[in-house]
Amino acid sequence: MAEDPVICTCLDMCKSEILEGIRANGCKSVEEVGDSIEAGAVCGSCVEDIQTILDEEYS
Ligand code: FES
Repeated sequence: MAEDPVICTCLDMCKSEILEGIRANGCKSVEEVGDSIEAGAVCGSCVEDIQTILDEEYS
């Protein structure tokens, strides 16, 4: 089974949920992710991990 770590502890969102949100909303930046699904827009400590997910998705 693929690893699905919790990325945003503020919202209790794991990697697959964030990726789903990125795809559903066409997010290209951490700002857009924050605007669309709020991940990264609460405390901000997961922003780097969200950037990594974006980099993987668009690489
Ligand atoms: S851990 Fe994602 S905004 Fe706080």
